Amino acid sequence: MSALLSIRGLTAGYGGLPVIDGIDLDVAPRTVSVIIGPNGAGKSTLLKSVFALTRIEAGKIAFDDRDITGLATAELVPIGIAAVPQSRNVFTTLTVAENLDVGTYAAPPRDRRAVEERVLTLFPDLRAKLGQPAGTLSGGQRQMVAMGRALMSEPKLLLLDEPTAGLSPAYLERIFDLILGIRAVGVTILMVEQNARQALRIADRGHVLVNGRNFQSGTGMELLGDENVRRSFLGGGTA
Ligand SMILES: Nc1ncnc2c1ncn2[C@@H]1O[C@H](COP(=O)(O)OP(=O)(O)OP(=O)(O)O)[C@@H](O)[C@H]1O
Ligand SMILES: [Mg+2]
Repeated sequence: MSALLSIRGLTAGYGGLPVIDGIDLDVAPRTVSVIIGPNGAGKSTLLKSVFALTRIEAGKIAFDDRDITGLATAELVPIGIAAVPQSRNVFTTLTVAENLDVGTYAAPPRDRRAVEERVLTLFPDLRAKLGQPAGTLSGGQRQMVAMGRALMSEPKLLLLDEPTAGLSPAYLERIFDLILGIRAVGVTILMVEQNARQALRIADRGHVLVNGRNFQSGTGMELLGDENVRRSFLGGGTA
């Protein structure tokens, strides 16, 4: 099976020294891939690079068998890439429905109602909140709004940067379940997670990023079982 997203030798940053350096990474269609690693390793920078929000110094990014290196974010959304940033990812003064609408601007769907209905099927908690300002929701509900907004552009690939950040353990499980629900409808997910152990449990593939380089890759289970990964990146102990 050919990869939906294929990254080769990607070196990128913000204009100074590169933050990520020579990254190779493949994401198979309809899978969940998780990037873990220490703070400052370049995890967000890698996701942002795929979404054209950094300066790419070298390397190539292919999506759906097409070279997308150098395309702008506004060109990526219509071809099927959507992203949810690490923080402050909802418009607090807009209602939930309006937040979802924002997700349609870059790639207006033919049938907005039908797309919204599919999103609300994935996130049933949002249905009763459609008229409420997003700023009045809990952290977990806001994360659902942010993911729902991204899905309104009907992406093939969804980039999620720490979707469980700051959430209670109960909500964390809920968000991971929702992510599996998103995969089940055929969307491919590439996400960064600090809750590495739980994230690897639901991951088809995991990648450990250290100092801007891809230190180790494997299935979620392989990384969970790897002595070195456990000791250095999962806080020791058994999975
Ligand atoms: N907009 C920016 N401009 C300049 N440097 C940046 C910018 N964003 C991040 N950096 C730098 O890039 C490096 C990697 O940051 P990045 O946010 O990719 O790390 P991360 O692995 O996502 O960390 P965390 O786990 O804390 O979210 C850091 O040294 C950071 O200071
Ligand atoms: Mg980050």
